[in-house]
Amino acid sequence: MNYIDRTSSSRREFLKQSGRVAAATAVAAGAVPHVHAAENNTLHVALIGCGFRGTGAVANALAVRRGPVKLVAMNDVFSNRIDTSLRNLTRAVEARYDRLAHEGYESQIDVPDEQQFVGFDGYKKAMDCLKPGDIAILATPPAFRWAHFDYAVSKGLHVFMEKPLTVDGPTSRRMLETGKQAAAKNLKVGVGLMSRHARNLQQLHQRVRDGELGDIFLMRAYRMHGPGGSVFSEPWPGSPSELLWQIQRFHSFIWASGGVYSDFYIHIIDHCCWMKNAWPVTAQGLGGRHYRGSWVDQNFDSYAVEYTFADGAKLYLNGRCMPGAHFNFSSQLHGTKGCAIASRANDCGGPSSIFSGQTFDSSKRIWQSETPPDESSPYQNHWEALIDAIRDDRPFNELQEGVMASVVSSLGRKAAHTAREVTLDDVLNSPEEYAPGLDQWTMDSPPPVQMKDGRYPVPMPGLVTDREYPM
Ligand SMILES: NC(=O)c1ccc[n+]([C@@H]2O[C@H](COP(=O)([O-])OP(=O)(O)OC[C@H]3O[C@@H](n4cnc5c(N)ncnc54)[C@H](O)[C@@H]3O)[C@@H](O)[C@H]2O)c1
Repeated sequence: MNYIDRTSSSRREFLKQSGRVAAATAVAAGAVPHVHAAENNTLHVALIGCGFRGTGAVANALAVRRGPVKLVAMNDVFSNRIDTSLRNLTRAVEARYDRLAHEGYESQIDVPDEQQFVGFDGYKKAMDCLKPGDIAILATPPAFRWAHFDYAVSKGLHVFMEKPLTVDGPTSRRMLETGKQAAAKNLKVGVGLMSRHARNLQQLHQRVRDGELGDIFLMRAYRMHGPGGSVFSEPWPGSPSELLWQIQRFHSFIWASGGVYSDFYIHIIDHCCWMKNAWPVTAQGLGGRHYRGSWVDQNFDSYAVEYTFADGAKLYLNGRCMPGAHFNFSSQLHGTKGCAIASRANDCGGPSSIFSGQTFDSSKRIWQSETPPDESSPYQNHWEALIDAIRDDRPFNELQEGVMASVVSSLGRKAAHTAREVTLDDVLNSPEEYAPGLDQWTMDSPPPVQMKDGRYPVPMPGLVTDREYPM
């Protein structure tokens, strides 16, 4: 999907996802329990990375029940992404959602030209527009997360940042250290693993905790669909710069995103581990590149990874981006007392269900989740929880699980790319950093992988085993 397609189709999607209509209806009905109107109660937001999800996260932030929240600064490496994001947030179009959104947003967006920053160092300038206790939204590709998080914490800002948080060992360790500083400063940290805020999965999680499934011994997670995002790439066309082009196509490059494996599969891996209440200790896996044509990205088209937990339980992850192949995007749990559908569709779609026995026979269904209509968006639920925690000064720190879910994603990816059994410790303690020195990059910096003869280095399982691809 190209850039224009993504932004225009995403518009309707993030408005739907944000649950804004419900919020506006609640306001009209006088049902909002606590609204701060005074300017000194306004939480200011800076958006770093003004693409699809960053814009959606701002929409969620502006729609929270316990506002006001105001967008005051933006940063991107492309000026047109700032323009598009602002346009998507403010313009009124014919759709009902958009009119409501527009009415709500106009007074909540105040980003004058001098608070729009283009470039790699613009994140500092955007965050410098905030005061301690305001919020930074970090929504670039994950490679940049550690540097942006570090600055946000140094400035005393609460943070909402998108998944994955990391794609390698050194940046994972760095993030964990910075997370300790955030905790010491009582900063709230939200991480975009929104499955954990999906009501169906929260209800299932509680039932699993209460022992209704017995001991979980097997989990199955599937994300198998056609091509999506920027997973497949043709050779760099020569413009924009190779670095900026790779950033635009970040799903194609392991340094930028961990590739399709980390960026796409992390949600479903994370919520399975959450249900198990543990992280796996080892993984082995396989995958391959099939119908490549002129695509030269670093991804496999299919992945099959077997994760093993300390108690011997397994998580099988099947990922595939291939047109014409069987579609399955769901997750299931098997325990000693029964089985469950966790996500029925997509990353965390409900309803979730529990069954007696080990088959998903509707006659054996003993429970099904129920989600209140105004809590149907996990994205909006997440923001309500974050803002509530800030307003009430309650603990809210998702850093540890965000880093570990990212490390577990890197674990499966590395196992498949090297064709070796890999341990969680191997990944967490690895010295290999995929984009060293990125905090010093300028627009003229070379990317960490460069095209040679029209190709990029790709994993060579069994042949290159000490790292994920030859350099
Ligand atoms: N939780 C979810 O459901 C969900 C959904 C989509 C994306 N995401 C995550 O959100 C992040 C962004 O994904 P997206 O789909 O919005 O991508 P995107 O390409 O639409 O947006 C990313 C933006 O960041 C900008 N950018 C890149 N590097 C930058 C830098 N160093 N400084 C400033 N700006 C920079 C890009 O120009 C782009 O505008 C990814 O980590 C992705 O995994 C999460």
